[in-house]
Amino acid sequence: MTRVLAFFLICFFSIGNAADLQPIKDAGPYVPSPQSVVADMLRYADVGPQDFLIDLGSGDGRIVLTAAKVFGARGFGVEIKEQLVKKANEDAQKEGIAERVRFIKQDLFKTDLSQATVITMYLLPDTVNLLKDKFLSELRPGTRIVSHDYPLTGWIPEKYVQMDLEDKVQISGVTTTLIYLYVVPAKVDGRWSAKMPPAVSRLPATLQLSQQLTRVSGSARLDGKEVPLEELKLRGDRISFRLSGRPGEFTGQVKGRSIEGEVVSGRSKAPWSATLGG
Ligand SMILES: C[S@@+](CC[C@H](N)C(=O)[O-])C[C@H]1O[C@@H](n2cnc3c(N)ncnc32)[C@H](O)[C@@H]1O
Repeated sequence: MTRVLAFFLICFFSIGNAADLQPIKDAGPYVPSPQSVVADMLRYADVGPQDFLIDLGSGDGRIVLTAAKVFGARGFGVEIKEQLVKKANEDAQKEGIAERVRFIKQDLFKTDLSQATVITMYLLPDTVNLLKDKFLSELRPGTRIVSHDYPLTGWIPEKYVQMDLEDKVQISGVTTTLIYLYVVPAKVDGRWSAKMPPAVSRLPATLQLSQQLTRVSGSARLDGKEVPLEELKLRGDRISFRLSGRPGEFTGQVKGRSIEGEVVSGRSKAPWSATLGG
């Protein structure tokens, strides 16, 4: 009995240690973003006092420190190099913002991102793309992601800015600097049971939506007729569309498995709602 117990204990602890002992993936060398790029990244993401920012691979902490000092945000940075973490925390103390920001020695791939309203990163291109699934599963709809130089492939950015900076020559060998801004979309793919105003559909309606990240297409079934959706847009948790050949603009907010919104046609307004499945 004692031997069996010892065997299980050894297995249990070896599994735990094996996970911890996995080498940390190097997501990029320490190369600080020029301060002008930091300011642009934070401006494009429209960072403000209501935001909680996480910088993945925070280096000397400049992005989180600037977000707190200049834009009033809170947040933290994760970084694997102990010296950089120490320096960033010391700078936060010196600047009097240590209550709002902190720096942690931690692997960015294992960091819980669910608190973020803004994510920033300046990492290698393959790393940026390895993080895509993590972003989609952990971040709330509407969270902004700003990437310095490297895009998330297959994800259409909300904004994309290219500029030339002399400071970049010593970093990347060229002056070209890119900033990409993404907004995490709500999950809307599927069949939704909808309640429409009687002028739109007397019978219970359905919406069939097909989604690929921020790109959405679909149709509605209204009083037994299939009507394509036009000008369908999804930004974070906000959805809007028109019914082909009919008046009115539909807007709505996606809250998990339900949408609540209104349809505006000329001077009249009426509520509509939908539930996923059903
Ligand atoms: C290009 S620097 C960017 C620094 C800072 N974000 C900026 O833009 O100024 C990338 C940083 O990521 C850190 N890093 C690399 N792999 C990491 C990992 N797995 N977890 C946490 N930090 C990592 C590096 O040590 C480096 O400081």
